[in-house]
Amino acid sequence: MTGVPLSQKPPLLTVEALSTATGPARRRLTILEDVSFTVSPGEVIGIVGESGSGKSMLALTLMNLLPRSIVRTAGTVRLGETVLTNLSNKAWRDRRGRDMAMIFQEPMTSLNPVMRIGQQIEEVLVRRRRMTGREANREAVRLLERVEISSPAERLRAYPHELSGGMRQRVMIAIALAANARILIADEPTTALDVTIQAQILDLLRQLQADMGMALILITHDLGVVAEMAHRVMVLYAGRVAELAPVDSIFDDPRHPYTKALLASIPTIESRRERLTTIDGSVPTVGAMPPGCRFASRCPVARAVCKTLAPPVMPIAEDHGVACMEPFGYALPSSADLPGAA
Ligand SMILES: Nc1ncnc2c1ncn2[C@@H]1O[C@H](COP(=O)(O)OP(=O)(O)OP(=O)(O)O)[C@@H](O)[C@H]1O
Ligand SMILES: [Mg+2]
Repeated sequence: MTGVPLSQKPPLLTVEALSTATGPARRRLTILEDVSFTVSPGEVIGIVGESGSGKSMLALTLMNLLPRSIVRTAGTVRLGETVLTNLSNKAWRDRRGRDMAMIFQEPMTSLNPVMRIGQQIEEVLVRRRRMTGREANREAVRLLERVEISSPAERLRAYPHELSGGMRQRVMIAIALAANARILIADEPTTALDVTIQAQILDLLRQLQADMGMALILITHDLGVVAEMAHRVMVLYAGRVAELAPVDSIFDDPRHPYTKALLASIPTIESRRERLTTIDGSVPTVGAMPPGCRFASRCPVARAVCKTLAPPVMPIAEDHGVACMEPFGYALPSSADLPGAA
């Protein structure tokens, strides 16, 4: 499949033509289709798209945490030199455990409710960094300080339910740090928190990311967050990549009609009290994907060809890929590698 050259540094994570599906083998219903992107060391990549666009599905696929009902039907995921998708499930998880961590919208889902948070952090330190119990305890205190939790020694003895949501999210971040993760996947990490706490957690993530050179895959509904934090942005729509570009290009020169529509729906300070400009219609659901471009039925510039052809992500500028024919005058560039075309 085509790949837009997106970074000069050798990527840490390379995702190629990834597809997932649900349903019985004879009647597979695609969810993600042909998703390709890379993440460089220390890079923040924002993943945006309406509800149901496949953001969480993508994160779970990368972590090899898909529910049983969903399978990866095609594509590869490479972490450094290791092709994770060639490994057994166990080997994949062991391998990613050394370099990748994930935090979720609701941290309670990944913390063990009956274990003190100190134990949960120390366990990772002992397992991943081969520390003794005493070393792990000291390091756990340091990590809680690092994520700005006050009275850390005391907090280590708390159970997850004794902490606030923001505090729990800080603990999850501390666990990612304990594991020495080089890639952190954050799926809506602040959506469940109130606004001031949200800003604090994002600040913390940004700071740690810069200090530790951690790569961050930041999944969010909030384009404002993306504008502030991301170096590059991937826009997903109905399981496919609509656009992939540096953050400035996404905001200043969006080329996909879906990206434009998303940007138009950001509330401005003046319009906050008014009705939001939302995009008419809704994301097609799994099992009801139209042939051709999945956005065509909602697209203001769709033509007949869009209802039959689904363009791949094609380079429109350096580092800027777009899966739409409109910027190309509705003709596919001859270099486009289109399944079923030719
Ligand atoms: N366990 C599942 N089995 C079958 N389909 C699923 C399952 N989980 C999610 N889906 C479908 O996969 C598609 C992508 O869902 P996903 O949860 O990845 O979206 P999302 O972009 O994370 O949305 P949100 O912004 O609401 O979190 C949706 O159509 C959803 O209905
Ligand atoms: Mg989600």
